[in-house]
Amino acid sequence: MGLLDTLAFGVGVLAGTQVGMRALWQRTPRPHPRLLATILEHPLRLKYRQPAQTLGPFGLAEGMTVLDMGCGTGLFTEEMARQVGTTGIIHAVDIQSALVEKARQRMDAAGLSGRVRFHHSGAYRLPLADESVDIAILIATFSEVPNGLLLLEELRRVLKPGGRIGISEEMPHPGYLPAAVVRNRLREAGFRYGGQQGNAFCYSLLYFRE
Ligand SMILES: C[S@@+](CC[C@H](N)C(=O)[O-])C[C@H]1O[C@@H](n2cnc3c(N)ncnc32)[C@H](O)[C@@H]1O
Repeated sequence: MGLLDTLAFGVGVLAGTQVGMRALWQRTPRPHPRLLATILEHPLRLKYRQPAQTLGPFGLAEGMTVLDMGCGTGLFTEEMARQVGTTGIIHAVDIQSALVEKARQRMDAAGLSGRVRFHHSGAYRLPLADESVDIAILIATFSEVPNGLLLLEELRRVLKPGGRIGISEEMPHPGYLPAAVVRNRLREAGFRYGGQQGNAFCYSLLYFRE
C-alpha cells in the first residue's frame, strides 16, 4: 500500500470511529471510561480547558459550597478548592470510585483535601442535604448522564434558593450535546437562564434556581 493509500485508510478509520462512537453515545450516554482518564488532562485538552478560565463564567467566591458533579480526576476540583478558600467546601462527586480516588490523590498532593468532601455516588441521589449547595458545576458531564431531567431535579433539591448551575460541554467529547439541546432541558426543568459563553466547540451555560 502506498503512502496516499495508507493516509486515506487512516483518515477513514478515524472518521468511522468518530461517527460510530458518537452514534453509540447519543443512543446510550455512558461515563467516560476510567482507563482513558489521562485524556482528561492531556495538554491538547488544556489548550481550551484551562481550569481558571473554564470556571470564570460561574463566579465562584470565598466561602461557597460547590458541587463538582462528575469530578473525574479532579482537574477542576483543584481550582474550585483554591477559589472558595479556607472557608468554602467542594463536594466532588463521581460514579466511578477509581476516579474519585484519583481526585482525592490530586487534592492531597495539592494540600487542598481539607476543603473537599469526596463522594462515590451517582447523579440521581446525591449524598447531600436539601438546599445546601451554592453552585453545581458539570464540566463535560451533563451529556454522560442518561436522564438529564432526573439529574436536574436532584440538583434543584440540593441547590439553595437562588443557587446556580454551571454546565460546560466540549465538542471532542463523543457525547457532546449542542448548547440549544442543553438549554431546552434546563428550561423544561424550570431553571432560569443566566447566560452563555464560548463557542460551539466549547461553551458554558449559567442557570439559576428560582
Ligand atoms: C468526561 S468526564 C469529565 C470529568 C471532569 N469534570 C473534567 O472535565 O475533567 C465525566 C465524568 O462524569 C462522571 N459521570 C458520568 N455519569 C455520571 C453519573 N450518572 N453520576 C456521577 N458521575 C457521572 C464520569 O465518571 C466522569 O468522571
